[in-house]
Amino acid sequence: MKALFNVLRPGDAEWQLAESIDPARLPAHIAVIMDGNGRWARQRSLPRIAGHRAGVEPVRTTVETCARLGIQALTLYAFSVENWKRPRFEIVTLMALLKEYLNRELANLLKNDIRFRVVGRMNELDASVQKELAKGLAATSSCRGMTFNIALNYGGRTEIVDACRSLAHDVGAGRLTPEQIDEETLGSRLGTAGLPDPDLLIRTSGEMRVSNFLLWQIAYSEIWVTPTLWPDFRKRHLFEAILEFQKRERRYGGVIDGGREPESGEAAG
Ligand code: FPP
Repeated sequence: MKALFNVLRPGDAEWQLAESIDPARLPAHIAVIMDGNGRWARQRSLPRIAGHRAGVEPVRTTVETCARLGIQALTLYAFSVENWKRPRFEIVTLMALLKEYLNRELANLLKNDIRFRVVGRMNELDASVQKELAKGLAATSSCRGMTFNIALNYGGRTEIVDACRSLAHDVGAGRLTPEQIDEETLGSRLGTAGLPDPDLLIRTSGEMRVSNFLLWQIAYSEIWVTPTLWPDFRKRHLFEAILEFQKRERRYGGVIDGGREPESGEAAG
């Protein structure tokens, strides 16, 4: 976390929030549903794409801040399989912003030892987008710091279908028996293979939905929703989310204290 304080102003509100974070209990993996770009633009009577454009800077700072905090993995939901239903111009602009971001940020990712990864059906994207993504993947493949996953042309159900297909192929080819399929083997065929499941799922703009995001992986994630629209998302919101996460009691369907009954006179909590 030391690297984080180099980019904060001593004593200001963000510094104070960051100081309250317990570095021993950081979420290993944070996933973010970046929502509200359109509403941000509408509030200013601007076209929707102005909202997406304003959403790039929070992407940049969130990636860098998470890396400086010492988060192991960050997954950002940038484009869903359902987003193809949007107007053509909006899709083209989103892809252009992504290419521009990668081009500009690659040096910064390398400087911060960030490994870039893509989750989603990358092969269905435009060739020029695939080329830019491949450049980022290759350049950062030996980085050992945070993994930054970008979810592109991503759908949780599609991802599970693809994983099942891949397992079925192996069963058909005799490389795997149906009995060998368990949660671990299925997880190893997902885009997030090798990474811990998200401990914390953040959603901006107040909607209480998971929107087909990381459906398998968020089984036990703590969810934090903020009314803040994505273009207004700042470091302090990230710190607030982590602080709230650190207050939660995670039971994974079990009980705390191994189910020990409180002694008489002891509060049940
Ligand atoms: C949701 O807002 C946001 C998206 C569909 C795309 C997210 C894209 C960015 C943050 C910009 C560029 C990304 C990168 C990785 C550089 P919405 O349009 O659904 O908002 P609304 O619900 O208010 O209409």
